[in-house]
Amino acid sequence: MKSMQRATHLRLIERLRADLPAGGAPAPVAREARPAFRVAAARYLDAGHHARERAAMFGGRGAGGLPRVIAASSALAAGACLPVDLPGLSLIVTRGADGVVRAVANACRHRGTRLVDAPCQAKALVCPYHGWTYDLAGALLHVPHAEAFAPGDSCSLPALPVSERAGLIWLGDDIAGIAGYLGGLDADLAALELDRHVVWRSRRVTRRCNWKLIVEAFLDAYHIRTLHRDSIYRFFLDAASIMESVGRHIRAVTARRTLREAPVELGGSDLRALSTPSYVVFPATVIIVHPDWVSVIPLHPRSVDETDFDHLMLVPAARAGDTPHWEKNWSLIEETVFQREDLWVCEQAQRGLAAGMVDELMFGELESAVRPFHAAIDDALARSPAAPPTGA
Ligand code: FES
Ligand SMILES: [Fe+2]
Repeated sequence: MKSMQRATHLRLIERLRADLPAGGAPAPVAREARPAFRVAAARYLDAGHHARERAAMFGGRGAGGLPRVIAASSALAAGACLPVDLPGLSLIVTRGADGVVRAVANACRHRGTRLVDAPCQAKALVCPYHGWTYDLAGALLHVPHAEAFAPGDSCSLPALPVSERAGLIWLGDDIAGIAGYLGGLDADLAALELDRHVVWRSRRVTRRCNWKLIVEAFLDAYHIRTLHRDSIYRFFLDAASIMESVGRHIRAVTARRTLREAPVELGGSDLRALSTPSYVVFPATVIIVHPDWVSVIPLHPRSVDETDFDHLMLVPAARAGDTPHWEKNWSLIEETVFQREDLWVCEQAQRGLAAGMVDELMFGELESAVRPFHAAIDDALARSPAAPPTGA
């Protein structure tokens, strides 16, 4: 299995390895620390600021926002209809006989009824109320007793822009340019071969914290020894991670303990066994490349202090039958590491901030990827006509 483009992964692994001190001591910060990067607590608490973030990045009310993953390509065979509910958006994602993926509103143009309530195979979308019928692209095909309506009354379902790239289905206003949006990450994601993976399990959970706290938890290898002491610290070195900006996205690799014993020449080595690549596709899709499977995690903010955490567990199609192995991985990563540790601590951070006892959060050199993440948010806010600068 390929990992991130091998040359990129090798370059980062060699940098990580060069920083590892002999003898098992934790890696020191390689450079002199700058003053901590500080972010106002109001950015995680203020509903007005959140409304500006939503308008600038997350769409809603018929707009897609910036690109985000809404499904895996392999979950959608020809003729499949998949309801996708996001805060402010309710969609049916379909794949027509022509193989093209589309998204239309999941609400009948007659009296608003939800059209599809569970994944299904269909040739047409038939409203359960009075039988208005649409094709999989949303065009109205049939109205019972059509003579009861004037010609201009009948219309099709509004479509939202979606696109397939790297084995994933993306929603976003400028989605035709998804390759350009992904920029330098496009080749990394293609190399994961997610089109040859299947969703072994997925889950959506709403957690009581601001979406940025979750992204920041994934941009931080500094917490592994403390927060994940009893779960995955046994697999990872302490605070040994390299993160780099790729446009407004982030690419990271985090060193696994096996890297210490790796041969000098890594030519034939399985790089995913030595370090774990991860990505933040701006603004809120996190991708983590485990040794033999991939977590795709789109985050969907519901309000300033509530976020939907979607976790798609993508495993190689050829190995999908290895149930005990995947059960064990799901239990460790999703149930323990993500839900009981990372998301639990994000809620604790939200509670601490909401208590009003600190005015700002601080990020040191081991959390430096948070700087470009916030710079990209500031840039998105500044570009959004609906979002005047907040000063918050
Ligand atoms: S609400 Fe859909 S056909 Fe009447
Ligand atoms: Fe974590």
